[in-house]
Amino acid sequence: MPWTERQATLLRAMGVRLWQPPAAAEPAPPPVPTPAPAPAVRAPAPAAAPVPVPASAVARLDWPALREAVAGCRACGLCETRTQTVFGVGHAQARWMVVGEAPGEQEDLQGEPFVGASGQLLDAMLRALQLSRAEDGDPAQRVYIANTLKCRPPRNRNPAPDELARCEPFLVRQIELVRPRVILAMGRFAVQALLRSSEPIGKLRGRVHRYQGVPLVVTYHPAYLLRSLPDKARAWDDLCLAASVADVEPTQ
Ligand code: URA
Repeated sequence: MPWTERQATLLRAMGVRLWQPPAAAEPAPPPVPTPAPAPAVRAPAPAAAPVPVPASAVARLDWPALREAVAGCRACGLCETRTQTVFGVGHAQARWMVVGEAPGEQEDLQGEPFVGASGQLLDAMLRALQLSRAEDGDPAQRVYIANTLKCRPPRNRNPAPDELARCEPFLVRQIELVRPRVILAMGRFAVQALLRSSEPIGKLRGRVHRYQGVPLVVTYHPAYLLRSLPDKARAWDDLCLAASVADVEPTQ
């Protein structure tokens, strides 16, 4: 409370120290806004340089290590655009091995080969021969399915030669581990990868080739068969040829 001059004089005379309320603090001037630092213009992170996978190292891997190596692979630019790698599916000791081209959209999303429309046709053809991609059961009635590429090329474009070359050790090792009685190579990229041939499918089908000593039958890719009814009958003949080979006891 503010004292009158008269009261103050009286109180001082009585030896009372007068308490004065502190002067109201000057309101601090509003802070001068410092301009926010301009957002740093960041260059896009450079894509990590591809790390080639040494084929000699892949050649020693067992199934779990091989799966892990594929999942972490950064050997080509496809690792930048994939959702996930698509390793392979089926019985690890299947009598049949089916080799396709590369994952499409559904395969990239689900992580399993041939799950889209062409996969349904493939499964139906296999079923007609009492074969399935199940991981257990009788190896005589099982197939192992893998692709030449483990990652989806953007917009399903054709695999590039360097992508095929960098991915090849994985497929080679899968074939070594399954040791199938017959390989069914579906479509031109599987044929190019396994037979090193650029002959048209029509010229290569109908006979038994060999890949590292394993009998190999060439046929049309299921995606092509979906568009070409007449070649479905030929593909069926190819599967019957492969079945006759798969039933032959291998000579050691
Ligand atoms: N086509 C292929 O060759 N492989 C797949 O996994 C799917 C479609």
